[in-house]
Amino acid sequence: MKRRESIQGKTALDFHSDNKSNLERYDEFLDVVLSYAKKLNKPNPTIIDLGCGSGETELLLTKKLPYATIIGIDNSKTMIKLAKRLLKDCPRMKIYYKDINKLKPDFLHGDLIISRHTFHRLNELKKGFLTMSRLANKNAFLINNSFVNLKSLSVKEFEKWIDCFIERNNAPLNQKEWVLAHFNAPSVKEYVKAIKSVKSLKLIKIIVNDEGYGCNTIKTIASKK
Ligand SMILES: C[S@@+](CC[C@H](N)C(=O)[O-])C[C@H]1O[C@@H](n2cnc3c(N)ncnc32)[C@H](O)[C@@H]1O
Repeated sequence: MKRRESIQGKTALDFHSDNKSNLERYDEFLDVVLSYAKKLNKPNPTIIDLGCGSGETELLLTKKLPYATIIGIDNSKTMIKLAKRLLKDCPRMKIYYKDINKLKPDFLHGDLIISRHTFHRLNELKKGFLTMSRLANKNAFLINNSFVNLKSLSVKEFEKWIDCFIERNNAPLNQKEWVLAHFNAPSVKEYVKAIKSVKSLKLIKIIVNDEGYGCNTIKTIASKK
């Protein structure tokens, strides 16, 4: 199935303006990331965010973890430009314009490899988790948070999703992108299978809930063996 990969130009700009007014939407993900950052027990961990978009996660994380080195990677020029602007006053921040599917094995290493709302866009899900694993130091935690396929919804749940979709009231291109990305997203089974197929990873936990988006999202937490 063809997924919706990177968002560019006008669609990226629309996503950015929607994110700005919705920073509380990051809370659930941040809570999980912060709880695993605490478990690392390191004074200055390195956190790598795959598909960082316009940098909201980085901005929020740097406030909570001022001594962490935070690195964002994205392959949308528009998103990178916006992220660099948003994070101009954050000296411990690095933002790279790169495709996460094409990172060289020794490009970077981190203690927490995270990704929010990006993996449902990857055509090769296993490759995404392999990349996470390659970037991870031993005993690092890998936290992915992304959407689950709409096809598992009952008619009632689908109606709820439509209500949330209407409430978004965003720009038409963004709305189209949103529907296609959700329609083509992986199932929970596909996420679990992809992680389990990466031998260097141990799946610790999965959390499936709707995070207020009207359809299921998944958080997968794994550790590097
Ligand atoms: C919906 S946005 C989420 C952005 C951000 N993580 C957030 O939660 O606000 C998905 C991001 O993933 C990026 N992306 C998708 N495929 C990618 C790839 N192969 N390499 C790097 N970035 C990618 C897109 O450009 C986009 O910025």
